[in-house]
Amino acid sequence: MTHPPVSFDPATGLGLLRTTHSLYALRVGQDGSPRHVYWGAPLTGSEVAALPEAQPPTGSSFDADAAPDELGIQTGARFGPAGLQVRFSDGVRGAQWRFDGHGVEDDGTLRIHLADRVYPLAAALCYRVRGDTDVIERWTEVTHTGTDAADDHQGGPGRGPLAVERCDSASWTLPHRADYRLSHLVGGWSSEFQLRRDRLPVAETVLTSRRGVTSHQANPWLALDDGTADEERGEVWSTALYWSGSWRITLSRDPVGRTTWSGGFGHEGVSWTLEPGQRLCTPVFAGLYSPSGFGAASRSWHRHIRSHVLPRPDEDRPVLYNSWEATAFDVSESGQRELATIAADLGAELFVLDDGWFGARRNDRAGLGDWTPSPDVFPRGLRPLADEVRRLGMRFGLWVEPEMVNADSDLYREHPEWVVHAPTRQATELRNQLMLNLGRPDAAEWVLRTLDGLVREYGVDYLKWDANRVVTEAGWSGHRDPDRLWIDHTRAVYAIMDRLRGDHPGLRVEACAGGGGRADLGVLARTDEIWTSDNTDPVDRLGIQHGFSQLFPAQAMSAWVTDSPNAITGRATPLRFRFHVAMAGALGLGGDLTALTDREKAETAALVAEYKEIRGLVQHGDQYRLTGEGGVRGVHYAARDGSEHVVIACCPMSRFGRPPVPLVLPGLRADARYEEPAGEMVHDGALLTTRGLDLGLPGGDYASRVIRLRRL
Ligand code: DGJ
Repeated sequence: MTHPPVSFDPATGLGLLRTTHSLYALRVGQDGSPRHVYWGAPLTGSEVAALPEAQPPTGSSFDADAAPDELGIQTGARFGPAGLQVRFSDGVRGAQWRFDGHGVEDDGTLRIHLADRVYPLAAALCYRVRGDTDVIERWTEVTHTGTDAADDHQGGPGRGPLAVERCDSASWTLPHRADYRLSHLVGGWSSEFQLRRDRLPVAETVLTSRRGVTSHQANPWLALDDGTADEERGEVWSTALYWSGSWRITLSRDPVGRTTWSGGFGHEGVSWTLEPGQRLCTPVFAGLYSPSGFGAASRSWHRHIRSHVLPRPDEDRPVLYNSWEATAFDVSESGQRELATIAADLGAELFVLDDGWFGARRNDRAGLGDWTPSPDVFPRGLRPLADEVRRLGMRFGLWVEPEMVNADSDLYREHPEWVVHAPTRQATELRNQLMLNLGRPDAAEWVLRTLDGLVREYGVDYLKWDANRVVTEAGWSGHRDPDRLWIDHTRAVYAIMDRLRGDHPGLRVEACAGGGGRADLGVLARTDEIWTSDNTDPVDRLGIQHGFSQLFPAQAMSAWVTDSPNAITGRATPLRFRFHVAMAGALGLGGDLTALTDREKAETAALVAEYKEIRGLVQHGDQYRLTGEGGVRGVHYAARDGSEHVVIACCPMSRFGRPPVPLVLPGLRADARYEEPAGEMVHDGALLTTRGLDLGLPGGDYASRVIRLRRL
């Protein structure tokens, strides 16, 4: 018997969400509060019928916390982190629910409607199952249901403005396990996406950004397991927040074996005032159960992102050339033309002019905000360069940092009131810049008009949208609800991106924030790739890319080959090794092409051509992360129908002078045979999935190889 993906039975209060590999169950209890019942492998009908009642707190005064809430509130015997924190206009805190019905929509959305028993507050807990993925999308909508703020004493208490001190998108709960392990991503500038696997302490653990952007330091993706899962085996529960501003996820593991986590936008202390009739909708906080390890969890996220997040998942990402590392601020029209000519010869398909092309931007101290080509650099404007790039057969891309301004700029001199500031505080400058408050409609409108003008005037095909500072001294002078800045700014960035894309259907956008400082599913829903890190050292990149791939697919991972020694780390590495590492994502060239020898140019052109042959597999295939003995790292990309495969193996450092051992390929079929088209070798799937593939790598540092396999 087939079951609908979402269902709710008002008689029992049981809500069920079904995906191919998972079942999620919640129950609205007698007290009107929705509580978590189950999340894991699919259950039979009789197992579902036996799911426990979700009892409200009873019993001992000290251990009263009963079944976990779907979104914690501040009333009753609840003492964990509350996902919904409200204060009514009479000073009373916390909701007390009565169940107010449910709705099931055609797109697979279930809404549980809740109303406060006394106050003019309603909430909808929303769940969506898409049918073709195991991801469950959840969000919350909170409404002030009063009609007249002046009515405070007439229609009951708390009719005035409602302070929403926290409104998480969802709380998630794991089944009881003997232990719990947290996988998460940490880092900093030039060291983003470092994967950590830490035992979850019996305590509250907070993952957060208080910076107004997603952050280099932490990412709103996490995975939990019982400590025994690996790439291919074990149950893994993971979640990801679709938000690019400040955020907070609080995990709570109690001493008797329950782990829940609640997450959403805004960090602690950021509040939002709802006037009567107003509603606050949170971003999505999605969850995924995978029965088959971290690798399968990542592949499920990648598929979901391709089907439901990325705007243009089926397009091949072009091989781009970006001039930043070649020229920094030393930009000239002739220099850019020279780079463009070489880039086109080497096989680049998109030429991106980075920072330094506009206003007085000859260094990072001036000009940011003045988005007209600098007459010193481009006396004839950008049009001749853009035309030349197109004549060379490439698309034309342009770097912008539209949320930011140097104090030394015409824009700031004209609109000092547009920056984020608390007037009584000294404004901290980071990279000599201030941040515009795009929550202000006038500033946001100006940004939209400016970008739209650039795209129209120069036929820009690709915007690299950068953001090189975070929020400090947050303030919105004169606004009644200044904390709105934290959410409204991010919403405005989204709205501008959406509008630009809508008005210019050919436009593609790269998300960048000083490298990977704004990488999340909120920004990915309106961009095509993410600049993963300013660190392009291939050895460091192996770790960065490993972390990035936990959530994001390879097609969204912008990866450049740059010069050696590396500008940040000083490490010298062979060109081929740099290429092989970058070929695991959306390949770009980012070095000084004028310094290449003829031999290096020939090697570069050949490697770009090889990438184009495997690009379809890398960008659209299923990804298997491989780790072998002896420090070798591999990534295997498999066509969805299993017919074509490519393995990229990189060994940065040899151990004891020995060549790396074979790499086991669990993504192949044991009952099939595979040939290497280049070497005409035929392999037995049974051997490749157990003993592994001989890499044929020599001993020595920076050994790497791309191996293609075709199923016979
Ligand atoms: C930071 C980016 O990550 C770099 O790639 C480059 O665009 C610079 N900003 C330009 O200022």
